[in-house]
Amino acid sequence: MKMNDLPERPTLVAPEITMADIVLPHQTNSYRTMFGGDAMAFMDKAAAIAALRFCRLPIVTASSEHIDFRTPVHEGEIIEALARVIYAGHSSLVVRVHIYGENPLEGRRRLCTTGYFNMVAVSADRQRLAVPQVLITDEASREEWLTGERIHIAIQVRRGRRGAATPMSPAHPHPIEPILETESQRD
Ligand SMILES: CC(C)(COP(=O)(O)OP(=O)(O)OC[C@H]1O[C@@H](n2cnc3c(N)ncnc32)[C@H](O)[C@@H]1OP(=O)(O)O)[C@@H](O)C(=O)NCCC(=O)NCCS
Repeated sequence: MKMNDLPERPTLVAPEITMADIVLPHQTNSYRTMFGGDAMAFMDKAAAIAALRFCRLPIVTASSEHIDFRTPVHEGEIIEALARVIYAGHSSLVVRVHIYGENPLEGRRRLCTTGYFNMVAVSADRQRLAVPQVLITDEASREEWLTGERIHIAIQVRRGRRGAATPMSPAHPHPIEPILETESQRD
């Protein structure tokens, strides 16, 4: 796929989006906890919304990266996704999705699942589109940027676009330096 002539890439804050639903019986397994496939579909949708709000470009899901199902969400519980773009390549975005389970009567919440998705901006005529860069605003977003960078590099290695021995952050220079918020941008 050809990359379009790239305009200036803006550097933007990546907002965290939230998406809530309730776990219905048809979404559960024999333990009456949420079926993993339904949870992944929910996460993919949240990742798409986070990516769209960040880049405002047409996107497709290119890959689901690692997903850790730490603890189940039960039937009748509220499920909430918190999704944010953590890293931008040239035409791809790494999106982190946390899933919380919430007891609807008591309001107790717990982190159940964390997963990462790679979304690619593609035009209707299948041209890659350049995505904005992620503005790093604090230490937490810097940490997540580094996680996203590792995922991006692993994808390139997997696809044969980069050697497995290529140095990775944080011990080595970054292929793309994270952009930190400046005083003027903070106003
Ligand atoms: C994703 C897709 C557009 C990539 O096309 P391609 O010609 O192989 O893309 P390129 O090699 O030019 O790479 C483009 C970007 O996609 C990323 N990418 C491509 N294939 C990928 C894969 N399998 N996994 C993760 N990322 C991938 C590359 O890392 C690259 O990122 P960068 O520009 O930030 O460096 C194409 O494979 C596709 O359309 N897949 C189907 C998507 C789909 O139907 N999704 C489900 C429904 S939304």
